[in-house]
Formats: sequence, C-alpha cells, structure tokens
Amino acid sequence: MEEDLVAWLWCHCPKGVQQQSQWRSRADVRAGVQAVRTLQFVEWLCGTGNLTTACSQLGLRVKWYDITLDSVKMNLLTNAGFAAAIRLALSIVMGGTAWFGVPCSTFVFMSRGHTKRSRRFPKGNTKRKDVRQANEIVDRVAFLIDILAHRKVHWIMEQPLNSLLWAMPAMRRAQKKCRVGSLKWQRRFIWMGHYGHSLWKPTELVGCFPGMATAWPTKRPSKRETSSAYRQWVDSNGRRRSAGRAGLKATEHYPVAFCDVTARLIKAALQALQECADITSA
Ligand SMILES: C[S@@+](CC[C@H](N)C(=O)[O-])C[C@H]1O[C@@H](n2cnc3c(N)ncnc32)[C@H](O)[C@@H]1O
Repeated sequence: MEEDLVAWLWCHCPKGVQQQSQWRSRADVRAGVQAVRTLQFVEWLCGTGNLTTACSQLGLRVKWYDITLDSVKMNLLTNAGFAAAIRLALSIVMGGTAWFGVPCSTFVFMSRGHTKRSRRFPKGNTKRKDVRQANEIVDRVAFLIDILAHRKVHWIMEQPLNSLLWAMPAMRRAQKKCRVGSLKWQRRFIWMGHYGHSLWKPTELVGCFPGMATAWPTKRPSKRETSSAYRQWVDSNGRRRSAGRAGLKATEHYPVAFCDVTARLIKAALQALQECADITSA
C-alpha cells in the first residue's frame, strides 16, 4: 500500500514540487511517506481558523493552512506551498481528519455571468485569471484527497448549495475512486443559519467521514436573515436577480457553534478508530 503511494507520488507530483521537497529519487519520496505521522486535524483554506481552534481546544494536534498566513508557503498555487501542503497531508494519522474550505466565489450562481461556468462547462471562462486559479486549486485539492485516501485519513469539503465545484472533472474523478477504507464519498446538507450564521446559508458538506450523511444536526432557521450580504430584485423582464454586496466576503466564516459541533464529531471519529485498534490488538 505504502509502495503504491510512493510510486504514485513519484509519477504524478509536479516536478517543481518534487524539487521543493528535495525528492530526487523514489527513496527520497519513500522517506517522506514513512516520516512519523502526528497530526490529528488539518484545515486547508482555513480563513479565520475557527474550526482549527475548536479542534485544538478539544486537545487534538492540529495545523492550519491559508494564503493569508503565509503568501508563499501556504499558497496552494506555488510549488513551495503545494510541497508544504503535501507534507501536511502525509503527516495526518490514520483516522484523523482533513478539512477544505475551497473558495466558492467562482463556483456559485451569483458569479456565473462572468465565470461562464455551467454543469456542461464547469471549467468556465479560462481566459479569466480568477477562474484559472480556482480551477488549479480544485486540481490540487483533488491531489491531496488522493493522498488522504491512500492514508485512510477522513476528509471533508464545504461549499454553498448548488456550487459547481462537484461538476469539475477532478472532483468527478475523485468521487469515483476515492474511498477511505470502506467509506465512500457522501454528502450532508446543512443550514449554517441553524448554527447562528447571519444568513440561512444552505451548505453542503461532502467527503469521506464516518456517519457523514446524518452526523450534523440541522434545521431550517426560524429567524429572518440579518445580513445585508446580497440584494435581490426582479428585473424589467420579470427575472429574479441577485448580486453580492461588500459584506458578502465576511459571510464565508464558519460560526463558532458549527465549529464546536464539528470538532466533537472529528474527535469522536478518531477515538472510535483508536478504540477499534485497541480491541483488535488486545
Ligand atoms: C471560503 S474561504 C474559507 C473561510 C473559512 N471556512 C472560515 O471559516 O473563515 C477560502 C479561503 O481560501 C484562502 N485561499 C484562497 N486562495 C488560496 C491559495 N491559493 N492558497 C491557500 N489559501 C487560499 C482564502 O484566504 C480564504 O481564507
């Protein structure tokens, strides 16, 4: 199994990234793969890092990763940043969890006018830099998911409902082949508003995580939306339209209550696997 991963990394990891990792031979890759695994949770594209903080407060060994923390070494689009991301993926223990808050701005319906993304052409208008970069981030996240599947590490991605991220070719491939042990790719719909978000924010969690399909409690929020993150109107042709306002960016942050619930689930999944290993070895 480990040798499969070594061979796969040697073949598929971009050469510039291999150079950054000082992987000059398969033996170097093997040493990277065999390095001690210590982390129990990693949050890529973590923004505020509320989720990492909640996991750390429960005693998990955690790391976070976001371009705002280091514009080179935590940038998925640089060789140094991607090399660091691969090292992190290889450092997570079996049964640990990886989280990806992939930027959604070019995948949501509000931006389809300029991104030109659609279910048939999810890659959209690649003449635009923001679209090309978002596509590259998705390819690189799919690469990390492949590593995590080899290592039996749980993973979860979060996107607003109706995001076109899942239609991207790299995600379709990952959906077909990535399993974590017997766990398949699953989805869970939640309302972020249920956890105190200022918008109702219908959201999808997708990944390989125990009990994923039912684990997160959710109810349609009863409160009205309190944010002015977007405006809606009916245009002269009678079509319902909407557009983001300046406050939209701030709505991407996870509410603390969501992070607390999620951190407890992540810890429970890890403990269940450890107990299972204890019983088997007893
Ligand atoms: C949707 S936000 C995640 C928000 C997060 N869930 C929170 O609770 O704050 C996406 C994040 O991806 C980060 N990001 C965008 N491009 C990146 C890149 N090339 N490498 C690493 N992080 C990047 C942004 O800085 C942003 O924090």
